[in-house]
Parts: sequence; structure tokens; C-alpha cells
Amino acid sequence: MLRVAVLASGRGSNLAALLQAEQRASWRVLGVYSDRPNCDALALARQAGRDAIGLRPRDFADRAGFDRALFQAIAPIQPDLIVCAGYMRIITAEALADLRTPMINIHPSLLPRHRGLDTHARALQAGDAEHGCSVHGVIAELDAGPVLAQARLAIAADDTPARLSERVLALEHQVLPACISEIASGRLRLSGNQAHYAGQPLRAPLQWQHGRLCLEPSA
Ligand code: GRF
Repeated sequence: MLRVAVLASGRGSNLAALLQAEQRASWRVLGVYSDRPNCDALALARQAGRDAIGLRPRDFADRAGFDRALFQAIAPIQPDLIVCAGYMRIITAEALADLRTPMINIHPSLLPRHRGLDTHARALQAGDAEHGCSVHGVIAELDAGPVLAQARLAIAADDTPARLSERVLALEHQVLPACISEIASGRLRLSGNQAHYAGQPLRAPLQWQHGRLCLEPSA
């Protein structure tokens, strides 16, 4: 059983998807940690009887101090994997350098396109034909790190940022749990800036197709 810690800042729809999916999986969310003590994600974690801790950034002198306290709060559950699921705070390079636990993030774009915020509006403005979401390893650079898995959709002529965000979110709810299951099975391994799948370096992200994650034929 892979022990998972989740970091979240907001409404927690990805967390809800994880709590649903874990019932059929070989991993379990043991705790949820946040930079927003009143967020819905923490309320959901408490309802589900999980460790739920929120820390206020303003109670700390600096970012490094906040991150030290955050990772100290997570330590008791001894996670094998940390999952950022709508965690909206940048994690300091110092905290990441000290971390021995793999960490992944779900990002609403087809990385490396559209790092950062407002990805849906930016994909529309750019005239992209496709959009989607990516699960990637977390490194000190924002929304960088090896891309492990992606789910994509075709942008429709009448898509708005709101509509696109809704459609991508539905994919996020499928690809994130599926990616954690691949890690729990040992097929997908993440170590620092390197990802391996079935013992081979992962050359291209796994793709969500027909309800499962697949290796790209060219990989
Ligand atoms: C998701 O779109 C996630 O990709 C992004 O923030 C959003 C969080 O949504 N990083 P939720 O809190 O999981 O509902």
C-alpha cells in the first residue's frame, strides 16, 4: 500500500477524485496539507477522516520557514509519495532539495506549453488545436520536472476558458489517480529529474487513451 500525502489550496475536486479512486487502488491518501486553513479540500479530508493540517503563511517569517513547518507536519504519516492537487503555492528550492520523497503535481495544460496560471485562456488565445493536463515531477522550477502523463482534448470552436477548464478538469480527475496507480504498481518510477517506466527511461509522457494510461507508440 503506497502512502500518499496530498497538498491542496482550494476546492479540492482532484482530492475528491483521489478519495474515490483509492477505494479500488493499491494506494491511500493518509493526509492533506494546505496553505489555506479554511479551504474546502481540508474540510473534505476531515470528513473522510484523514490527517488534515492547514498552516497560515503569514505566521512564518519567510517561505523557507513555512515550507519547513509544512514538511514537518507531513512527516508523521511517512508518505511514499506527495501529490500536489491544486496546491497554489510555490515550494522553495531548499525544501525540495531536502526532500527524499517523490513529489508530483497536476497542471492544467499540455506541458511544456502554458506553465503558470490562466492556462485555458492562454491556450485559446494562442489558437491551440489541443489542450489538456499533465502530471509531472516537481522540481525547483515552476511547472517543470519530468512530465509523466498527459490527457488531451481537441479545442472546440465555441470553447470559452470556463468551458475548457471544466472539460480539462474532468480529465484531471482521471489521469491523476491513474498515474498514482502506475507509481504504486512500481511500473512508473520517479527519482529527481528522471522518470522510468517498466525499467526503461520514460522518453515521452504516458497518454490517457480509452480510459487508461498508455506508452506512446513512438516512445
Ligand atoms: C486544477 O485545475 C489543478 O490542475 C490546478 O488547480 C486546480 C485545482 O482544482 N493546479 P481542485 O482544487 O482540485 O478542484
